[in-house]
Amino acid sequence: MRDGLFISFEGIDGCGKSTQVARLAKCLKGQGHEVVCTREPGGTRISEKIRMILLNPANTELAPITELLLLEASRAQLVQEVILPALERGAIVLSDRYADSTSAYQEAGRALQHAEVVQANKLGTCGVEPDITFLMDMNPHEALARAMEHGADRIEAAGIAFQERVRQGYLTLVKEYPNRIQVIDASMSLEEVSISIDQVLAKELDRREVHHD
Ligand code: TYD
Repeated sequence: MRDGLFISFEGIDGCGKSTQVARLAKCLKGQGHEVVCTREPGGTRISEKIRMILLNPANTELAPITELLLLEASRAQLVQEVILPALERGAIVLSDRYADSTSAYQEAGRALQHAEVVQANKLGTCGVEPDITFLMDMNPHEALARAMEHGADRIEAAGIAFQERVRQGYLTLVKEYPNRIQVIDASMSLEEVSISIDQVLAKELDRREVHHD
């Protein structure tokens, strides 16, 4: 049984997700909720080790299929060790990226087969899906300029055309999951983005209360 709320944040590199995760966590904690923040790839001791392999710019020979399996291994550990126990306690889990990243990056970006990625995500998530996903949508030129300021890692170094494919991958997912995935225009100011996220979340929390009664 899961009583908690699972919220994931998605978007291309440099879209400002991490800032929003930190802000929302603070805000929800202030309201008295138990909040568990995590990120992908990573979020557990073992998953962070896998993250180091994935994001090391020296690992140029890493095959796309290996990348997929490492991402899912990292995810499965995170779900078992952190996400599921937190949801069972009734906590709100905020994840900076989750399985939609794999559909967008490995399928749309790296051109792995749809069926393979779907199957791999099923294993990696252990069937645990977010209740709400915020897709911070943004033009890759703008986002990459921001990301480069902080130093590009192996995946970010893939360039604009790659990020554009990833963006389109996300927009395809929105069509598939229109109720779960909420698109936020990430080119707005930080304050405007925050307000949009809070509004969508408040509406969703209301809707869930109504359903519980
Ligand atoms: P990170 O430095 O955390 O970037 P960001 O702040 O943009 O999330 O690096 C995560 C990188 O890993 C990012 O480029 C996206 C990539 N990634 C995938 O390709 N597939 C995935 O399933 C996940 C979770 C991340």
